[in-house]
Amino acid sequence: MAGGVVATGGGGTHHEGKITLFVIVTCIVAAMGGLLFDYDLGIIGGMTSMDQFLLKFFPNVYIQMKDQSGVHHHSQYYKFDNPLLTLFTSSLYLAALVASFFASSITRIMGRKISMFIGGIFFLVGSLLDAFAINVAMLIIGRLLLGFGVGFCNQSVPLYLSEMAPPKIRGALNIGFQLMITIEILIANLINYKLAKIKNGWRFSLGIGAVPAIILCLGAIFLDDTPNSMIERGKQEKARKMLQRIRGIDDVDEEFQKLVNASEEAKKVDNAWKNIIEAKYRPQLVFCSLIPFFQQFTGINVIMFYAPVLFQTLGFGSNASLMSAVITGGVNVVATIISIFSVDKFGRRILFLEGGIQMLLCQIAVGAMIAKEFGVSGVGSFNKGEVNLLLFFICAYVASFAWSWGPLGWLVPSEICSLEIRSAGQAINVSVNMLFTFIIGQVFLMMLCHLKFGLFFFFGGFVVIMTIFIAFFLPETKNVPIEEMNSVWRSHWFWARFIPQDMVNSHAHLQDL
Ligand code: BGC
Repeated sequence: MAGGVVATGGGGTHHEGKITLFVIVTCIVAAMGGLLFDYDLGIIGGMTSMDQFLLKFFPNVYIQMKDQSGVHHHSQYYKFDNPLLTLFTSSLYLAALVASFFASSITRIMGRKISMFIGGIFFLVGSLLDAFAINVAMLIIGRLLLGFGVGFCNQSVPLYLSEMAPPKIRGALNIGFQLMITIEILIANLINYKLAKIKNGWRFSLGIGAVPAIILCLGAIFLDDTPNSMIERGKQEKARKMLQRIRGIDDVDEEFQKLVNASEEAKKVDNAWKNIIEAKYRPQLVFCSLIPFFQQFTGINVIMFYAPVLFQTLGFGSNASLMSAVITGGVNVVATIISIFSVDKFGRRILFLEGGIQMLLCQIAVGAMIAKEFGVSGVGSFNKGEVNLLLFFICAYVASFAWSWGPLGWLVPSEICSLEIRSAGQAINVSVNMLFTFIIGQVFLMMLCHLKFGLFFFFGGFVVIMTIFIAFFLPETKNVPIEEMNSVWRSHWFWARFIPQDMVNSHAHLQDL
């Protein structure tokens, strides 16, 4: 097959056809999968500071919170330190981690669509169990099911989006997933804010998660699978029709042939897992492992999980803290939209680099302010001006995450892997992401107790490392057709040494891009 059928004269971008309404609508529905992911994260952040919820399920935390005579009662760093509560919050991510391995095989063998559907069903059942929970066990089982849902959706949705999209707007369509994530966090914050005072408000907060789950399930029934996945599963003719439909042109021969080639290549290898550890896939293995790790070590989820708790700790009071979470939630959405408009124009690298520098500056500022006010004793309070300044830096931090590591953490791993390793690469991405989301969720409160303001410098240190890493090692992937990525590695100063020439020949060339 090497060198064969591919017409390279026009370069990689010739075969993409139009940007059809069909492909956009399809991608919007699929991106609903993102709604499921963080809705819960947002909700849980707020709920863990709702009195009624704590009183019902975690009475000890409640007592500890109200108790003014505890050992650490003066220190703002020690509030809410309860292992059961953190385990409850983080259990979802552990479940998602486990599920992503099953989801990987199902996504490959049965297609992206089925995998999304399964994710939706898990999420639906999980939301309902939680909404009607009468004891901690039910609450936790519900949460584990939500985690399975997340495992399936985060495996299949980003792949679905990246395979459906025309290369020119692949970044934008893929970030639709992250946009949904952020919209959902915002909705969750708003709902928490409204429902905090209502009797059993937390039940509604949890139950509303069923809505996007239903939309995704229905969507997945009506959506078609990606041409790549159809070819992978031997449905050639259907795949060609699908390609014509999503590209809006009849002549899709060139792109179709490339997909078929990619699939042939993929068939030569029997095991994606064995494959991805081969030297020639080193760049993909490295990025699929390190990108999610770094994404979590930006420290974003310290803000996302615990924003209400954190703000309370900083002296905002119960209502004000939810309000602040809404503000950061809003910034998250707006900045993600900015990312959608820049990612295919300026590229992934610029966003990563700018985002990294901005995050670092904000972390230094926040850390310094907290150090000044609370010091190591944890006693102190901010005045109004300081609170506003702090909020400003937190918003600027969230914004920079939201146009860089947030969306790119899902986009880049889903677009750099060739078909034969794609499902394995994505499974690594999801599971590493979940593992570190879990770990950070677990140890954050403990870290806050020990590192105090240093926590912000700790994450800042990681931001320095990841930004340097991106600067040297990540090649630009904007506008490159997804089945032609090998050429990108082949022309990179460092990764070229891993990529044999014939890997590039069997796909297309990039000179004209
Ligand atoms: C991350 C989540 C994070 C969210 C915030 C996502 O890309 O994977 O861990 O909570 O962004 O918007």
